[in-house]
Amino acid sequence: MMFRKDFYWGGATAANQLEGAWNVDGKGVSCPDVCTGGSATKSKRITPVLEEGTFYPSHDAIDHYHRYKEDIKLFSEMGFKMYRFSIAWTRIFPNGDETEPNEKGLQFYDDLIDECLKYNIEPMITISHYEVPFGLTKKFNSWTDRRMIDCYLNYCRAIFTRYKGKVKYWLTFNEINSATAPMGGFLNQGILNEIKEMDFNNQKDIPQNRFQGLHHQFIASALAVQMAHEIDPNYQVGCMNIMATNYPLTCNPQDVVYTQQKNHVFNWFCSDVQCRGKYPSYMDRYFKEHNISIQKQEGDDEILLNGCVDFYTCSYYMSNCQTVDPSKTGKGNLLTGVPNPYLKASDWGWQIDPIGLRYSLNEIYDRYQLPIFVVENGLGAYDTIEEDGTIQDDYRIDYLRAHIEQMHEAVLDGVDLRGYTPWGCIDLVSVSTGEFAKRYGFIFVERYDDGTGDYSRRKKKSFDWYKKVIATNGQDLD
Ligand code: BG6
Repeated sequence: MMFRKDFYWGGATAANQLEGAWNVDGKGVSCPDVCTGGSATKSKRITPVLEEGTFYPSHDAIDHYHRYKEDIKLFSEMGFKMYRFSIAWTRIFPNGDETEPNEKGLQFYDDLIDECLKYNIEPMITISHYEVPFGLTKKFNSWTDRRMIDCYLNYCRAIFTRYKGKVKYWLTFNEINSATAPMGGFLNQGILNEIKEMDFNNQKDIPQNRFQGLHHQFIASALAVQMAHEIDPNYQVGCMNIMATNYPLTCNPQDVVYTQQKNHVFNWFCSDVQCRGKYPSYMDRYFKEHNISIQKQEGDDEILLNGCVDFYTCSYYMSNCQTVDPSKTGKGNLLTGVPNPYLKASDWGWQIDPIGLRYSLNEIYDRYQLPIFVVENGLGAYDTIEEDGTIQDDYRIDYLRAHIEQMHEAVLDGVDLRGYTPWGCIDLVSVSTGEFAKRYGFIFVERYDDGTGDYSRRKKKSFDWYKKVIATNGQDLD
């Protein structure tokens, strides 16, 4: 058995990381628009007041807004069957709380979707991908406030009705579980507990705000699922999680239980709510021990139960090791953990673990029995243009090949895997560091961290490799 005949091979991006045109055609300011550039060693900064002369990578990004036709054509040349992208909320509702949508914003996505359909590329749309309108952050600290639910649903109604008949797959929130960690507060939820200039990696964190914010996001997601099905019974709505599975560093039972707790909160809590329709019981203890109290309204439990997602999706970049042994130090990964002695890491310290993808897919499928898409995966790396103008990114090919092999193993294990959209199919701005130098694409874009570059696109070696992978439905991975 191989991948399904109708397997969705494709690629994934997010609006703020590639569109640019940050204030064009009525677009409002989004949270990433107030983030400066950064690097692997220097945190990007959040500047609520924009600074003259400072570089803001999302403002022009790779100018996809004006070049989407060229980009979609390149995707179609690789044979994409699916393109996962996000809608910038602030193109549709510039401040986030207007009652009427911005027609020019809607028109842009009409054109983008039509361009995909012209090449038989199925769109998968992320409704909110790390891009809360900054106006709502300033107005009531974003998702901490229950009024956010109505703003989000108003936005959903506008896009669900406008793109009816053209789009089938929707994701309510990108990597919703990022908000179980301090990193996700501003990134995912637009929560800023102090409106002042600060390092992105060093924000004032109030866990109560993040978890209350998540409750509001769960309700918003569940109501969006119901709304989508009412507007178009063909709509399929999914959740989207970072899957960064945790392994116990040793077989010491204390490590094993500690790891289970980490997995509960980070990897399972959000998808348990969105796939099963209720809060898992293990969170009661976590909330108690962390002084978190979730304010629910009457009827919330019912909303969650009636708003379960139709399918599960995740990003997968790494796994983590956990231990209770304080002598085992060393940063394991982006978020948490200690180094895994069996794995190598990327130049940004993300540990590469293809087998962990097979393991994770099995875990997810055992738990939910829902169709699964891997909607992000890939290697962020430094690419160089050779003298002959080519980009020999064999390291990226090796990374992707190994992960595709393990997805295939998972399919043989019985997992219902529907699609694979590797991240940053065209080079774009990195989320964690705000730089262009961390590249993921099959397509190289001439954009650099000093703000130079003519935006021209060129194919990397991986472009032709991926084209062959798609043409053979994943059989020829050489
Ligand atoms: C995911 C996000 O966390 O990982 C993307 O959904 C992000 O938006 C991607 O770009 C890769 O992370 P980074 O930090 O390398 O850009």
